[in-house]
Amino acid sequence: MRPAARPSRRARRGRWLLAGALLLPAAAQSPPAAEPATRDRPVGDTLYPTLGQADLDARHYDVHLTVTQPGTRALSGEVTVTLRATRDLPLISLDFLGPPVTFARWDGQPVPYRQDRPGGKLRILRALPAGQQASVTLRYAGVAGLLPDPVFPFTLGWQAVPDPLKVGGGANFAFGEPDGTRTFLPVNDHPSDPATFTVTLTVPPGTAAVASGERVRVTDTPGAHTVTFEQTRPIPTYALAVHLGPLEEQGSPAVPVGEGGAAVARRDYFPPGTPGAVRAPYRRTGEILGVLSDWFGPFPFATYGSVVVTAHLPALETATLSTMPVASSSDRVLVHETAHQWFGNSVTLRDWSDVWLNEGFATYAELLWHEHLGQDPRPLAEAWYATLQRRGTRPLVATDATELFDSSAYQRGALALHALRRQVGDPAFRRFLRAYAQGQAGPVVGTDDLLAFVRRTLGDPAGDTLQRWIRQPLLPPAP
Ligand code: TRP
Ligand code: ZN
Repeated sequence: MRPAARPSRRARRGRWLLAGALLLPAAAQSPPAAEPATRDRPVGDTLYPTLGQADLDARHYDVHLTVTQPGTRALSGEVTVTLRATRDLPLISLDFLGPPVTFARWDGQPVPYRQDRPGGKLRILRALPAGQQASVTLRYAGVAGLLPDPVFPFTLGWQAVPDPLKVGGGANFAFGEPDGTRTFLPVNDHPSDPATFTVTLTVPPGTAAVASGERVRVTDTPGAHTVTFEQTRPIPTYALAVHLGPLEEQGSPAVPVGEGGAAVARRDYFPPGTPGAVRAPYRRTGEILGVLSDWFGPFPFATYGSVVVTAHLPALETATLSTMPVASSSDRVLVHETAHQWFGNSVTLRDWSDVWLNEGFATYAELLWHEHLGQDPRPLAEAWYATLQRRGTRPLVATDATELFDSSAYQRGALALHALRRQVGDPAFRRFLRAYAQGQAGPVVGTDDLLAFVRRTLGDPAGDTLQRWIRQPLLPPAP
């Protein structure tokens, strides 16, 4: 799904002109005739300039993944992407760092393609006129791509947790944010193009498999266990949850926090032997959903829960099923990931430089939870402020991929919201949160959209405050 193109920000237009000018000399030494020119254009992300294809709207991914040896990097896939062009496209370019593609079909017919593995692009060499839709099927088998995080000591994308005892206990899961989903799925890997997903996982008998959305089918044969999940509301590609391994499902009563009080189904997944202390925070998920939906409005998905993983990674807000490392199994982190279901997964980012919109709202939810527990929120806000004074801070729009998950995105972002709340009061702040979470500033938002929305709904003085928190190099006064 991609909303209608909006007038681009001036900064963005400037960048395109610059990119055009820089690309001209390169085009002069164009490749030999046998190599068709790569006439695709990435989305134009400020921090990830090669990701995605502009004017391509991936609407739905029908994913089939088969893993015969959980805990290794081996997998095979068949993915059918339903695509629409919002402008004439000379070819289709998907992001893919996965194994060799051996088969490509366009509406069922063979179609030429070229896989640039080092470049991470899979190009389907057929034009798609503006307004038209196509369905492209790709098959691949081999080893998932490896993508080191640019800052932290782990790899993004497909994770393999080996089985130390070699008794069939290995696990795999997806850690997509920001651009890791392309290590195992061919996708338009940018949050400005959220899509729906059908995920079918085939694993050895006795292995559990789960993904974002609702489970709609289970098929067991002597040789394989196959499960299908439907994610019917669009989500960014990085937020797709896929987990397989020796997981135990723990069901809980549904919670009436959906639209109009609709029931949200509840289930969590734990590796065998997960201690009670690690499981404890997940028992509070219903209460967390209640507190957050009071502030943010109806929960945006039909189901919610967590999967606990033993890997050493940050927690991740994978849609409908947060990915929770053992070390992150606290109510604070669970509140944070749950808040992302509204802020990030439902309202999605226009550009990675705007990631504070995700992290600031999710961090702010921690303070709302604090208050729900009857604790004074002031020391928490003061601690955030002190952290920023100690570590240094920056304007909220990130200028470099190393800033994506820094304390300015989290704590400064949260304090900007706290400043707004202090200025306008709780009732107006709650109305603002609900309207924003409902997509009234747009289903895909950038910092400028939020600022304009704050001016429109909370007035110019509130807008001026937010603007200082966004732009000022130094910290504005503590709210
Ligand atoms: N969005 C995650 C959270 O705050 C954190 C995260 C995702 C992250 N990907 C990352 C942190 C990569 C560091 C590096 O809940
Ligand atoms: Zn977060």
